[in-house]
Amino acid sequence: MGHSSVGSSKDDTGAKGPGVRDRVLDGFQRRFGGEPTFIARAPGRVNLIGDHTDYNDGFVLPMAIDRAVWLAMRGRSDRRVVVHSLDFDEEASFSLDQGAAHQEGWVEYLRGVAWALDDAGRPTSGWEGVIAGDVPVGAGLSSSAALELATARGFAAITGVIWQPVAMSRVAQRAENEWVGVNCGIMDQLISAMGVARHALLIDCRTLETRSVPIPGSVAVIVLDTGTRRDLVDSAYNERRAQCEAAARVFGVPALRDVDVATFVARENELDATTRKRARHVVTENARTFQAADLLERGDVDALGALMDESHRSLRDDFEVSRPELDTMVSIARRESSCLGARMTGAGFGGCAVALVRRDDADAFARSVARAYLDAVGIQPSVYLCIASEGASVERMAPLSDDVDGA
Ligand code: GLA
Repeated sequence: MGHSSVGSSKDDTGAKGPGVRDRVLDGFQRRFGGEPTFIARAPGRVNLIGDHTDYNDGFVLPMAIDRAVWLAMRGRSDRRVVVHSLDFDEEASFSLDQGAAHQEGWVEYLRGVAWALDDAGRPTSGWEGVIAGDVPVGAGLSSSAALELATARGFAAITGVIWQPVAMSRVAQRAENEWVGVNCGIMDQLISAMGVARHALLIDCRTLETRSVPIPGSVAVIVLDTGTRRDLVDSAYNERRAQCEAAARVFGVPALRDVDVATFVARENELDATTRKRARHVVTENARTFQAADLLERGDVDALGALMDESHRSLRDDFEVSRPELDTMVSIARRESSCLGARMTGAGFGGCAVALVRRDDADAFARSVARAYLDAVGIQPSVYLCIASEGASVERMAPLSDDVDGA
């Protein structure tokens, strides 16, 4: 995707991917010869509202996007995984039986999923494959969750087990928490596993219940990548988590999800100034997110946009995870009359904002915002018109050897 171009898919099921799908198919034939047995795919995500709520057992409202990681694969008779990444132009392999020392880079996400599957008592078996994607890496669109879920989807296919999206998103989250060492919540993995075409998903991050909410055809969801990347994000993220947990202890509840706005207001003076701000963000963001799902359902996109604006202010001023370039991007977006609301999205500290825009004006919006941001900040942003797409999927390409009728 070229800088500042407006990317969009031909349909709404993630089918811009065929470019990447063709690449992994072709790459597989060149590297391994013959046909792969399966092609697995898992999307990245953008969160409309509800950030830093997932690890507080709260609510989030993300959608899976039409950008994904694709994996063409075929089983092997031994217990090795051999995988070639087209994007990194690099090959890696590992044994499913030896917990060898951690290597560097992208392969650790695959090894982490294999480890977490095994640890959960789920079957694994060897395969060879070629992997590629069009989720920008490090932009806050969850390329790592997409990689984990494509891997999990592939393992399920190759071992012939029924795909269980909720359980598999937990496995992928464990891989990220305990193998890769990033203490993330469940949002990214769950939406990559469970996304619904043309819908956002309200996720209760305590019960993992989901409600799909249609996105009205009158609006476009536009991701605005500031071109900045997050530094020190892990330490800042973990510090925010710890502050939220400290606040929950003061309220005497398992998680901030259990504190409503009225209770917070009545007791906020029991918290020190910083903890109070962090908790205020989470408590109000949960309320906004829950309300946002109802507004989206009713098609009240103006009111939804207003909640997105409030969410940005809360993340900027109370949770303090924005940065000047994100604030500039959001205010430039808000100057456009076609924009209903805008906010930073994801962990913060860099990466992307998301804007809700009247669909008929989406192209003009994208051009105008990209130009104004370049003028203001001196960085050429990337702008993506995102279509809500389905979650992880698999396509069978050839019959399994022990399943010759191809059923
Ligand atoms: C990252 C994490 C998610 C979530 C968001 C913030 O994307 O991976 O679990 O905490 O930040 O909402």
